[in-house]
Amino acid sequence: MGLLTGDLDGDELTIYDFFVDGAYQRRGIGRALVGAALGEPGVRAAAAEVNVDNVASRALFEALGFEPVRTVSWYARRLDREDGAP
Ligand SMILES: CC(C)(COP(=O)(O)OP(=O)(O)OC[C@H]1O[C@@H](n2cnc3c(N)ncnc32)[C@H](O)[C@@H]1OP(=O)(O)O)[C@@H](O)C(=O)NCCC(=O)NCCS
Repeated sequence: MGLLTGDLDGDELTIYDFFVDGAYQRRGIGRALVGAALGEPGVRAAAAEVNVDNVASRALFEALGFEPVRTVSWYARRLDREDGAP
């Protein structure tokens, strides 16, 4: 019904995959998953990458005391390969 994965580097936890099945959202499961991860032995700091459009995730992390520390720009382009050029 929910999953959180992360990596512990020294005493800092980086949260990677984090989701709760739609049928079970808004029941405190996401909060509990993050709380359990923060309670793991040796964790003294934690960070997660959150899309600025992700209202639910931003609200959850901010409710747990996380603060935004930087914003990353996503660069992209399309390649016109019809003429064979890269
Ligand atoms: C983000 C996600 C994991 C939250 O899981 P959840 O179990 O629904 O969260 P909780 O019920 O524990 O909510 C805890 C708090 O987060 C905030 N929150 C959660 N969902 C919210 C929503 N849709 N809108 C606004 N705030 C929300 C609220 O402050 C909430 O507390 P409250 O219910 O007392 O108001 C879930 O929405 C999800 O799986 N989203 C899709 C995947 C995703 O975006 N993952 C995060 C990538 S960083």
